[in-house]
Amino acid sequence: MIDEIKKEIEGARRSFVNELAQIQSPEELAALKERYLSRKKGRVSLLMARLKEFAAAEKPLAGQAINQFKESIEEALAAAADRHGRAEAREWRDHSLPASDLPAGRFHLIADIQRQIEELFLSLGYEIAVGPEVELEDYNFTKLNVPEFHPARDEQDTFFLDGFDDMLLRTHTSPMQVRYMLAHQPPFKIISPGKAFRKDDPDATHSPCFHQVEGLLVDRGIHFSHLKGTLEAFCRAFYGPDVVLRFRPGYFPFTEPSAEVDISCFLCSGKDANCRVCKGNGWLEILGSGMVHPQVLRNCGIDPEIYSGFAFGMGIERVAMVKYGVPDLRLLYENDLRLLGQFG
Ligand code: DAH
Repeated sequence: MIDEIKKEIEGARRSFVNELAQIQSPEELAALKERYLSRKKGRVSLLMARLKEFAAAEKPLAGQAINQFKESIEEALAAAADRHGRAEAREWRDHSLPASDLPAGRFHLIADIQRQIEELFLSLGYEIAVGPEVELEDYNFTKLNVPEFHPARDEQDTFFLDGFDDMLLRTHTSPMQVRYMLAHQPPFKIISPGKAFRKDDPDATHSPCFHQVEGLLVDRGIHFSHLKGTLEAFCRAFYGPDVVLRFRPGYFPFTEPSAEVDISCFLCSGKDANCRVCKGNGWLEILGSGMVHPQVLRNCGIDPEIYSGFAFGMGIERVAMVKYGVPDLRLLYENDLRLLGQFG
């Protein structure tokens, strides 16, 4: 009698091991558990039900054998549940599959454009000079020939620092021209990228914090054609070889003469009245520039009778909007990866 039940247990154990080996999902595992351990119809319960057929002397031995079988099943099921993740896990994972792609980082569009601009000017032999975001009013305005009464100095445009009436958040990167000229004698050529700040309400083309790249070259005999040639070389490399530049008379207190520079629309070259980039205008305004005002050179300890120079300043957000068709500057600061992931 006892041998018979042991054979049956052995048979049940083998089929259990077979079935366990074929399990593919937590659902199948649960079904297997049900088949063997269910109180009513599980194979273990059916074996237990046979105990009453046993003589009193054999009962404990048979019971012990069935119990051992039950425990080994419970252990095997627990281990299998563990292997397949938590027993309740809904998702089935095949750990032999190759890993899915990890998301790779990249530069933010603004940083990416800044680096492209830096690389181009480095290749023209320029140095990069980085200045502070908290500036002296003297460097941001006065030494740059911005008159005392100029509206740009107004509280409405400029973030002044509480408790320091001669300091502010720089409203442009141009004060780096002053810093560099005070510390160096020509010849030199630098660009200065960085943040600038103005009290503007955010809209599609304004942000209270934005980015610029400033350029400055001073040497003997520098004239307007050097400025034109430099900006042409830059724009062809940056926007494409066929781009045409247009210099429009402008006004900046720190340059004389001053010019606003447009490029021909790189998408339609002015041929598409409904162009989404230039809106049919054919030209895109990209930067301000000019010959450094002699008074600015003098303010910074450089003799304008010996030296002359040119300067320019461009907004990086503006470049992003023009070159990549970003329709609203605020998109660049919302950090939605679905947008940023398309660039860089
Ligand atoms: N600082 C000017 C601005 O923020 C841009 C600019 C114009 C910079 C002409 C220059 C320049 O160096 O020559 O609007």
